[in-house]
Amino acid sequence: MCGIVGYVGNRDAVPLLIDGLKRLEYRGYDSAGIAVHSDAHLHTRKCVGRLRALEDNLATNALRGRPGIGHTRWATHGEPSEKNSHPHLDGSARIAAVHNGIIENYQELRDELQAAGHTFLSDTDTEVIPHLVEQELAAGAEHFEDALLRALRRTRGAYALGMLFQDEPDTIYAARLGSPLIVGLGDNEYFIASDVPAILNHIRQVIYLNDGEIAILKPDGVVVKNLEGETVQPALKTVDIAPEAAERAGFETFMLKEIHEQPRVLRTLLERHATKQNRVELPEAGVNGDYFKQLRRVMMVSCGTAYHAAMYGKFLLEHMTNLAVETDLGSEFRYRSPRLEQDTLFVAVSQSGETADTLASLRLAREKNCRVLSICNVPGSSMVRDSDAVLYTEAGPEIGVASTKAYTAQLMAFALLSLHIARVREEITEEQERERIASLAGIPDAIHYMLERADHIRAIADKHHDGPSALYLGRRFNYPTALEGALKNKEISYQHAEGYAAGEMKHGPIALINEYMPVVCICTKTDDEVYEKMISNMKEVEARHGRIIAIATDGDRHAASIAEDIIYVPETREEYSPLINVVALQLLAYYAAQARGTDIDKPRNLAKSVTVE
Ligand code: AGP
Repeated sequence: MCGIVGYVGNRDAVPLLIDGLKRLEYRGYDSAGIAVHSDAHLHTRKCVGRLRALEDNLATNALRGRPGIGHTRWATHGEPSEKNSHPHLDGSARIAAVHNGIIENYQELRDELQAAGHTFLSDTDTEVIPHLVEQELAAGAEHFEDALLRALRRTRGAYALGMLFQDEPDTIYAARLGSPLIVGLGDNEYFIASDVPAILNHIRQVIYLNDGEIAILKPDGVVVKNLEGETVQPALKTVDIAPEAAERAGFETFMLKEIHEQPRVLRTLLERHATKQNRVELPEAGVNGDYFKQLRRVMMVSCGTAYHAAMYGKFLLEHMTNLAVETDLGSEFRYRSPRLEQDTLFVAVSQSGETADTLASLRLAREKNCRVLSICNVPGSSMVRDSDAVLYTEAGPEIGVASTKAYTAQLMAFALLSLHIARVREEITEEQERERIASLAGIPDAIHYMLERADHIRAIADKHHDGPSALYLGRRFNYPTALEGALKNKEISYQHAEGYAAGEMKHGPIALINEYMPVVCICTKTDDEVYEKMISNMKEVEARHGRIIAIATDGDRHAASIAEDIIYVPETREEYSPLINVVALQLLAYYAAQARGTDIDKPRNLAKSVTVE
């Protein structure tokens, strides 16, 4: 989704804006632009496509100035084109705006402004904003701030905004309603950005703007106000992310780096929550034992990869407790009529904490007086702020658009949460809790072992990547793993892939199987009947000459005798095997994408943080 960056201070804004926009590239975009103050005027540069085009433009047509605002656009209203790229200007070219979000009543505002003589140059909803401010100034607003507040009160929808006004050459205006925006505090310089990693190298503290707040940034300080124009005291948070966390650290892509970070991330999460007494405590989550004791029902909502994590969480909670657990997709949940009672714990699962559909569902649950727990990776995000309790996944910034470490951290969070709830409700013994913690403690090393097998996985990906389609099958705890493996593959390699519950194959997808079809079968060994059933499903594929790639437990000769290719994984408890198995699938997708020559960190059409419906 769109990315915003802005700078006010004594340095030339242009290189800082370009650097910030590069760090926002992972959010997904199709065009970019900047505006800066220079020679008492506003100057803009815009380009379609990658930031390189904007840099080339600046190389041949140099621009210096300060303050400045910049934007990467992910098209919603109007195709990717120079005229639709931000910043957008008012009719007099004295006001520039960059925007993330959607102004829902833009058409009626545009009609009204056009009737009053305003001319629009783009197809965007955003362009109404500078024109509205221009109109309010002409209509007698006292000053720019007053005009901005009046204009904002007339809009419906969502915005994160950065604005420049020609007559105030030392100021950036920012505003937030429903779309993320932060203010970064450096040494006598201030930034706005869509997220912290964009400006991490320059700031020590951050203000997470609240919905309905504006910020006025000058080289000597920041003032935050509400939409009534009253000054509010913002909370300053110290930034505790190391600058290296947002760098590739020698890896060819962020995705590969993030795949390799998984052992460390999971170890940290485990160490934070499993005490020396081998007991899971979740003090930060903010929901206490008594609450879990009387709990009857859990509703989990999320999107994409986080939805697969929630499915896993449901299976695990149902396996370990007698809670009734339901999951839904954010985009579906908000438009059905869910039974939300006051005694329901609503769990939002999200890497970014900003996904529009999950956030809207969370707010719906709040309206119904449900207790809200977020499992989230980004401190200060909208979901975190709207929740009663938070379980942080603490994976650090995830820059690759395809989620990897955030997913396994979500699985680990569910492993910890389910242990905690089960013990509090006396549904497992202390001994059982100890055994499971010991098993979880082995996961980081098991993932290391998978990473050491990367060359073998690459060889398998090289062999199978060029088919038009692939099928991923799994059962029980590994049914979500199959869905996630297929999602990873299609996201980054663009090979069509379907994830299926293996038992469902015979009800339809079996028709697709022939000697060209790769079928990834997750058949890690367990003591129960799921393994045997999975082997039967593989036999069904074999009988139809499908090309089986098995994810199997080390030394499983039976699986090897059926499969064309096999990826061995270390043995662990069945319920925790998805944490290891998915790493094999991440690597399989990664090397397939590499063989197909795609842009792995920034796959086409995708956005990291989906802040529109
Ligand atoms: C993951 O690889 C995806 N890019 C996407 O499905 C993502 O998981 C989804 O958009 C939800 O995002 P969130 O976790 O930030 O809410």
